[in-house]
Amino acid sequence: MAQIPQYFIQDLLNRVDIVDLIQSKVAIKKKGANYLGVCPFHQEKSPSFTVSQPKQFYHCFGCGKHGNAIGFLMDFERLDFIDAVEELARQQGLEVPREQGKFQEKKEDFQILYSLMEKANKLYEEQLKNHPSRNRAVNYLKNRGLSGVTAKRFGLGLAIDAWDALLKYLSPSPAEIDMLKQIGLVSVSEKGKTFDKFRDRIMFPIRDKRGRVVAFGGRVIDQGEPKYLNSPETPLFHKGKMLYGLYEAKLAHTKFQQLLVVEGYMDVVMLAQHGITYAVGALGTATTPDHIRLLKQECPEIIFCFDGDNAGRDAAWRALKVALPFMTGELDIRFLFLPEGEDPDTLVQQEGKAAFEKRLRTEALSLADFVMTKLEEGLNLKSTSGKSRWISAFKPYYEMLPNGPYRTFLLDTIAKRFNFTFEQTQDLLNNPSKKFETPVLLDTHLSLEQKALALLLQYPQLASQDIRLGENDNLLMQLLVLIREKNLTSTGQILEYFREDPNFNAFSKLALYPYPDKFDFEAEWHDLLKKLSTRAESELEDLQNLTKIRKLTLDETKRLRELLQQRRLTLQS
Ligand code: CTP
Ligand code: MN
Repeated sequence: MAQIPQYFIQDLLNRVDIVDLIQSKVAIKKKGANYLGVCPFHQEKSPSFTVSQPKQFYHCFGCGKHGNAIGFLMDFERLDFIDAVEELARQQGLEVPREQGKFQEKKEDFQILYSLMEKANKLYEEQLKNHPSRNRAVNYLKNRGLSGVTAKRFGLGLAIDAWDALLKYLSPSPAEIDMLKQIGLVSVSEKGKTFDKFRDRIMFPIRDKRGRVVAFGGRVIDQGEPKYLNSPETPLFHKGKMLYGLYEAKLAHTKFQQLLVVEGYMDVVMLAQHGITYAVGALGTATTPDHIRLLKQECPEIIFCFDGDNAGRDAAWRALKVALPFMTGELDIRFLFLPEGEDPDTLVQQEGKAAFEKRLRTEALSLADFVMTKLEEGLNLKSTSGKSRWISAFKPYYEMLPNGPYRTFLLDTIAKRFNFTFEQTQDLLNNPSKKFETPVLLDTHLSLEQKALALLLQYPQLASQDIRLGENDNLLMQLLVLIREKNLTSTGQILEYFREDPNFNAFSKLALYPYPDKFDFEAEWHDLLKKLSTRAESELEDLQNLTKIRKLTLDETKRLRELLQQRRLTLQS
């Protein structure tokens, strides 16, 4: 933290909106004064994760995790402080100023990382084309029906069966060896020997939107475990934010009519070979909000392709939950379930482009239909109790939907299905959900000073009021001065100043002190200050009386001096 100037961090926190930041990673939805969602930090069914825009602060009532935008990134992405600041800065298009020109170095580092990836990719491609041992890989791909043109289009390559083919090819400096480890191309043995991570595998380069190779998936040739070996999370590659084949798909389309999301590398590649050039792969991970945002940027029509088995249905349902908060009205999300035992790779080879696209048109379930049927399982919707159970089951999902035309459309669909009026349906779903009640976590027996600190932390605008402090409460004064001098406007910003301070935890707790949404914080503030002042007066009186009885201790003398000085200040102002 030493190298990043505090002014920059505060400026950054001023620009960032914690709601945007968290919304890009976690499904949250406006609820009263706050945003609410299912906590990403612990397992829970009903949402207790809250984000406050004015405070620029998040807090989970379930697990107690809380913090500002930087703290969120640290927790969510498991970044250290510096990396979290850099990530936020990157998102804002800012460069992090460093004291010893350190950032310059860092920026160059990234360029070297990209170029190492590029060189590795070149070697792998070259080896698939020309290496004497290439036949097994080539035959395998041919047997799977893959053409040379397709292999070239996706930059497929071969890591030969050797421990050091890449290392030899690159003959890296010690610094470069470190970088190769960072980007997951080289591993280190127990004895400290370095060796190529990918060996005897068919290589699928994963490219970012700009076409730069950021990671690899390496498939075993034929049989073996693990079937795919993937690059780990690296400075260049965050799996949940990447869609395999998006770059290649964008090359084939100036504008997408629709985007198809499939699971695997071979699915994307084989679909493209058969003319379905708008498929992208989720790299074997569950759908993330980042995926939806990436897709949405490209095209509003999205079809998710899943296996027809139970695992596929479950994965689809999880994807649906992630997508709900994005359903404003522009987005159209559908789900296609494939016949059991098939994946897009095998299916498109069997039936060809036209039949596959016909499935997309005729078999893909709309999000609304998927919700309806999924929640209907085991219920008799002819009976009132069946309907009412359906409504209760639907409520948490309904609450994840943003306001907008899609929500209205869904209400209308439900009303028709159940033979309710639109208003009836609305009433049923808008009844306050009993599931979420804010538990009061905090001990309400705070001292006056603590109460004042809590209030100031949460309503820093109070610092600009013309006030007369009746007591020399150091911490409170310090905080007040800090807020004024640095012009701090949110809880998240203030807490950043105390990250390394012994008071950090205490302050964080006070920042969570639960005030009601509509709350006259100014009245509370004046009341507290009056009480503090009254208390100081009586304390002063007590101490002055004490001097007549006995000699004061050192502490008592010090306190008396403080109180007298404070009163002088108060009287002067
Ligand atoms: N995957 C992975 N690691 C594994 C297995 C799977 O990363 N050990 C990812 C890959 O992106 C893979 C996707 O999950 O493409 C789907 O896995 P699976 O269905 O098992 O593989 P397929 O794509 O069908 O692979 P293939 O057709 O090459 O057998
Ligand atoms: Mn497959």
